[in-house]
Amino acid sequence: MTPPKPDSRAERVSLWGHLRAFRRDILSAQPARLYRAWMAEFRTPFFRSYLCNDPALVRRVLDERPGDFPKSDRVTEGLRPLLGRSVFVTNGEEWLRQRRIIDPAFEGGRVKDSFPAIWAASEAAVARMETGEVEVELAASHAAADVIFRTLFSIPIEDRVAQAVFHEFRAYQRSAPILNLGAFLRLPAWVPRLHRGATRRSARAIRGLIEGLTAERAVAIAEGRAPADLATKIMTTPDPVTGMPFGTAEMVDQVAIFFLAGHETSASALGWALYLLATHPEVQERVAAEAAALRPEFGVVGSLRFTRDVFREALRLYPPVPMLVRETARPEEFRGRKVRLGAQVVISPWHLHRHERLWERPDAFDPDRWAGEVPQGGYLPFSRGPRVCPGAGFAMLEGTLMLAHLVRAFRFEALPERVPVPVAHLTVRAKDGIWLRVTNRQGGQIAHPARDSL
Ligand code: HEM
Repeated sequence: MTPPKPDSRAERVSLWGHLRAFRRDILSAQPARLYRAWMAEFRTPFFRSYLCNDPALVRRVLDERPGDFPKSDRVTEGLRPLLGRSVFVTNGEEWLRQRRIIDPAFEGGRVKDSFPAIWAASEAAVARMETGEVEVELAASHAAADVIFRTLFSIPIEDRVAQAVFHEFRAYQRSAPILNLGAFLRLPAWVPRLHRGATRRSARAIRGLIEGLTAERAVAIAEGRAPADLATKIMTTPDPVTGMPFGTAEMVDQVAIFFLAGHETSASALGWALYLLATHPEVQERVAAEAAALRPEFGVVGSLRFTRDVFREALRLYPPVPMLVRETARPEEFRGRKVRLGAQVVISPWHLHRHERLWERPDAFDPDRWAGEVPQGGYLPFSRGPRVCPGAGFAMLEGTLMLAHLVRAFRFEALPERVPVPVAHLTVRAKDGIWLRVTNRQGGQIAHPARDSL
């Protein structure tokens, strides 16, 4: 079965038709030719936008001259009430300094330090999983949030503050459902961009809770009794250039992005990976066979190669961050076309990952393709270059372990009447969630009265 792909729009539509389509969903607002083209230019009265699929252009923007293609303030302002001046929205010197402090927490062998917390969160996800007809996106969100709390602050999702942050984040997303639209459309400066009251309130509440956690941690560090987790590592790492660590206020911005970037994305990927396994039972059995060898030591990761490839393939078909948006800081030439200063540059993992000229059977779910050659430059779920996701290694470990744990304990089956439709929210989600039938592998289906009566 070919995994679901959003319908493309007609080739020719009016500007307003295009903007209306955008408002509904970025993925289905695009014409099918973007899966074949190397570049596409969109001209509107307000802005010029270039979607770049040409691997050489992608390299130029992300690897070779990222400083000439910064994130624009307009693009990131939708996230500002929540993220302040976090590493996700800054540019230039400010961004560079933040990465100098953050990167060491994720470098090389340090991912290994997070293994016990990710393992514990995977076991908790198994214990929490219901059987019957289950909306697995929500379960995945819970699990990914648990991973972030345990690895950042050494607290499980059951903790009172962690619960409050988790629920406020969900409220935030509901009140700001089209963040991606704001990120994509460069409206003229005179259009007011007020954040909704509810969005501001949620952002304030989340930041208040995070302030409490970071202030408490600052005290624990000062008293020499802080656990050795990511928060402690980041708060005690001085910038090697200036010698200064993050202040408590600045740390709040960074924690907010870790939580958002680290949990929304992993949850999206895990939800889609479970759906793909449900629709490909033979692949699921191979993951279950591999997962039989699970044991709580880091070395086990080496024996979960196929599970890892399944997660990779899920990230290819449903990249949680479907598009990266930058702007030109100086005039450019793209494939022989003059590009103005201030034009929008879109790198679309969504299109690159399904590009017909880069991939064989681009829309098919085939984890075995990762055992062979994959196209250079056609895969960037974590972006690339200096601005690459610092959590990439961490996320791959988390996804692999979570999948192995869940599939060892449960069998996931698709519900034919509930085919999920991918849409771009903050990340690529299913329009009405991902509903699967979950049964216990050991004892067959366990009755769950609340679900079974649905
Ligand atoms: C499957 C999971 C994940 C995916 C697909 C993912 C993807 C991405 C992508 C594509 C970007 C670049 C966005 C852009 O440039 O516009 C990014 C940035 C970022 N990610 Fe991840 N991410 C994941 C998990 C994580 C985790 C677990 C963490 C932290 C614990 C994290 C922290 C960050 C941060 C801090 C940035 C901003 C980096 C910067 O702008 O310099 N991510 N991520």
